[in-house]
Amino acid sequence: MILPIFAFGQPVLRKVAEDIDQDYNDLEGLIENMYETMRNARGVGLAAPQIGKSIRLFVVDTQQMDKPDEPAKGIKKAFINARLLDESGDPWVYEEGCLSIPDIHADIERKSTIRIKYLDQDWKEHDETYEGVNARVIQHEYDHIEGVLFIDHMRPLKRRMIKGKLEKIKKGDIEVSSPMRFVKA
Ligand code: NI
Repeated sequence: MILPIFAFGQPVLRKVAEDIDQDYNDLEGLIENMYETMRNARGVGLAAPQIGKSIRLFVVDTQQMDKPDEPAKGIKKAFINARLLDESGDPWVYEEGCLSIPDIHADIERKSTIRIKYLDQDWKEHDETYEGVNARVIQHEYDHIEGVLFIDHMRPLKRRMIKGKLEKIKKGDIEVSSPMRFVKA
């Protein structure tokens, strides 16, 4: 089922999300719906706050970015109750966008390597290190469960330049190709 994506301005995007436990109602179904919603919107990651749930859950699918003539590097995973343990390596710039902030893209600088602890769908604990694009997508989605958006990492000048656009998104004054839920003006 495709779920509406909560747009910039929705308070849920600014909350620090809560851990869940094994009793969480139909977690498998929710994760399936999040993958479907993400794919429909042509995203490579989606966090639960973006579908209105303030819980520490996000999905990542960078397998879509694998090229047929290169070794596969992508991952497809759900991260439950994640904790970022470390960020290291040289900062690098990569263009980010966000399904909650349509039509805005910006070069964002982040460290190249991360170490993260999380539970998978079978509630098995993992402690893993990622780099490159996988790290980048995880950093972006992890921010979402901490109430942080990629625009928060933009340089102040660039951030000022998109202020008007952000106000429009808040009001739903934009065209979107997948279902979204806006804060009404
Ligand atoms: Ni995002």
